[in-house]
Amino acid sequence: LTVKSSLIEPDGGSLIDLVVPENQRAVKISEAEGMPKVQLTKIDVEWVHVISEGWASPLKGFMREDEYLQSLHFNCLRMKDGSLVNMSLPIVLAIDDEVKEEIGCSGSVALVRPDGDLVAILSSIEIYKHNKEERIARTWGTTAPGLPYVEEVITPAGNWLIGGDLEVLKPIKYNDGLDHYRLSPQQLRKEFDKREADAVFAFQLRNPVHNGHALLMNDTRRRLLDMGYKNPILLLHPLGGFTKVDDVPLDVRMEQHSKVLEDGVLDPETTIVSIFPSPMHYAGPTEVQWHAKARVNAGANFYIVGRDPAGMGHPIEKRDLYDPDHGKKVLSMAPGLEKLNILPFRVAAYDTVAKKMAFFDPSRAKDFLFISGTKMRTYARTGENPPDGFMCPSGWEVLVKYYESLQAE
Ligand code: ADX
Repeated sequence: LTVKSSLIEPDGGSLIDLVVPENQRAVKISEAEGMPKVQLTKIDVEWVHVISEGWASPLKGFMREDEYLQSLHFNCLRMKDGSLVNMSLPIVLAIDDEVKEEIGCSGSVALVRPDGDLVAILSSIEIYKHNKEERIARTWGTTAPGLPYVEEVITPAGNWLIGGDLEVLKPIKYNDGLDHYRLSPQQLRKEFDKREADAVFAFQLRNPVHNGHALLMNDTRRRLLDMGYKNPILLLHPLGGFTKVDDVPLDVRMEQHSKVLEDGVLDPETTIVSIFPSPMHYAGPTEVQWHAKARVNAGANFYIVGRDPAGMGHPIEKRDLYDPDHGKKVLSMAPGLEKLNILPFRVAAYDTVAKKMAFFDPSRAKDFLFISGTKMRTYARTGENPPDGFMCPSGWEVLVKYYESLQAE
């Protein structure tokens, strides 16, 4: 007897799971050994992980050209029944001329790690042109030099894209001591059901949790209780894939998040901390749709969004790359995300009068202090503490240790 879950349906109706069952593994591996090989980068493997567990459901592999064009031009994929699912980032695999030559007219390829380890099979493949400039311009709205994902991934990549159906030979692991935090959408859904959640609200982040973030999350919980929900569960969902060099690394963030829960800034009883395996694009309003869509697949029906989600400073000008309010506006109107409840928040900053993080009040702007990542680094470097009430002391301690270790290098 299976208990009917009351969680939000995944995109496309059922969750994609592309990990080959254990009893078929040996056969698939020997098939893969005979196929042309495509070597993956570390970030390609992160995308294999994302696709294989169904975060991008109903996507079943790296995009073929028709999916790529829909994603790039419409931020959506059209289903057979005519309905739309959101898919704002192209999830693609690049190859160079030489690899394309080796593949020839083969219908399937094996995907391997840099050390040669077999990872997956891509079948019914299609190879098409990788117009990098067009991809970058449409995804980021700019081709300015210095976009982290572009420099790390796209510029060095080949001039072809290869799409097809993915089968992963065994679950992707990182062996970094954090794999127990990497719950798949299916595992998260099980956990929400086990806890009898009647609402799941997701918080995407790539930064340490300060009390401003906590304000958004705790305020959401209060709003959901006011709406009549009895057991809302928070999914605290740090991004675990590629991030830019000056972001705090995942292991440090996980330790910091643990302190925030230990300290009671967030309630451990009603919070699940897990890692979202996606790499980060820093593509602002375009990317935030991906962040939200993936959480629908993991069972979240409420999504918190605040200031400048997935945004960053312009790489060569002294301004934000995106309007900090556009992320929440776009998310509230995004096609294919109608079933997700978006919870938009104003910017939180340090209120020097109340001596705590609070929602910014423009009528007394001079009372507020904005503490950016750069400012946090400066505090840590100079040994100065941030103002009381900015972050729990045990969480701050974790960051001080990290920034000190950077200086020692
Ligand atoms: S993100 O790239 O994952 O979006 P970050 O970790 O900085 O970046 O933010 C996580 C979430 O908190 C996003 O929804 C973002 O809009 C929100 N947020 C971050 N800082 C603030 C702030 N000072 N006020 C309001 N919302 C914020």
